[in-house]
Amino acid sequence: MNVLKGMARVTLFGSRNDGSGVSFEPSRDIPSLAGKIILITGAAGDLGRQTTIELARYGKPARIYIADLPLDEDGKKELLNRIDREVHDGSAFNEEQDTTPTDLRYIDLDLTSFESVQKCAAEFIAQEERLDLLVLNAGIIRIMPGKTKEGYEIHFGLNYLGHSLLARLLTATMKRTAQQPDADVRLVVVSSEGHAMAPKGGIQFEKLKTDCAKMSYSQRYGQSKIALIAFMREFGHRSPEIRTVAVHPGRIITGMAASLGKESRLARVTAPIAPLLCVPVSVGIKNYLWAATSPNVISGKYYEPVGVPDKETSAAKDEELSRKLWDWTEAELRGAGILE
Ligand SMILES: NC(=O)c1ccc[n+]([C@@H]2O[C@H](COP(=O)([O-])OP(=O)(O)OC[C@H]3O[C@@H](n4cnc5c(N)ncnc54)[C@H](OP(=O)(O)O)[C@@H]3O)[C@@H](O)[C@H]2O)c1
Repeated sequence: MNVLKGMARVTLFGSRNDGSGVSFEPSRDIPSLAGKIILITGAAGDLGRQTTIELARYGKPARIYIADLPLDEDGKKELLNRIDREVHDGSAFNEEQDTTPTDLRYIDLDLTSFESVQKCAAEFIAQEERLDLLVLNAGIIRIMPGKTKEGYEIHFGLNYLGHSLLARLLTATMKRTAQQPDADVRLVVVSSEGHAMAPKGGIQFEKLKTDCAKMSYSQRYGQSKIALIAFMREFGHRSPEIRTVAVHPGRIITGMAASLGKESRLARVTAPIAPLLCVPVSVGIKNYLWAATSPNVISGKYYEPVGVPDKETSAAKDEELSRKLWDWTEAELRGAGILE
């Protein structure tokens, strides 16, 4: 019943992140991030890229790593130049004061492959001693039934399992950073209101190593997004020195709209009115930026919209599900020879 109620709420009303939450203005509220090191997955995409731009423009951290699907050298240079230009085009930019602009770097990451995730983490660790903020943002929606390289359902394998492995591989660096004076280390997980569409019980563990073709697209996406909330909560219990938080950005027309349109008749039919139901990228990223920087963020919480906790479904609040997912994940990664 709760699953049905959740699906109806999301389908009919959604959460527009339309300013009804806590007020957050990047130019006013992003504090100095001087000296901090940040890694954002999927930051070539719309929400991740704009988050990178705003953090660099107003917080000026030492470095931001953009971890996204492999690009050739020209592609990387073009993307980094584009982001850099936008950082400096902002009205807040003052050339005289900006003596230490943020260094932007690209790391290849394919979340559908354990090997690629391991390479990404190793490349990061080879370059950095610290990690202050990890944003697990990359994601797919409504992809045809398929599996990752290691055979997991594609949404679950990419949105959740690849990210979970990346976070595990970077945990030691984050914990070391947390011991530094004045540290405020955070893990921000980008989930979705769509977690309410997850199948009964939240996660169907016995089906995760299939393409789950009998589930609907929404259920497969929902399963991956509820897993991210469960992971965030359990990670927070196990690493209390790291502030962990999950967010829903709102509904925004981004790169994801392309795959939605391809696979969903409803999305195609409603495309002309979609702008009325969606918020701009600049609004969608407020929850990211708030979660990444606000002193008021409570670890272990899911926020939807900005700064409003506890709106996740009861399945997403289930501590038993979080523990079960953690144990299942450890067993899978051990089986793959990644964890001892
Ligand atoms: N837009 C919304 O309304 C909405 C609502 C709720 C939640 N979200 C969440 O917000 C996050 C960002 O999405 P977005 O709207 O900004 O979409 P987007 O523009 O499509 O960005 C997603 C990024 O993830 C990358 N990606 C795809 N497959 C990957 C892989 N195998 N390994 C590494 N990176 C991969 C994409 O690369 P390519 O572009 O090259 O494929 C893209 O750069 C997602 O987690 C999404 O679920 C979005």
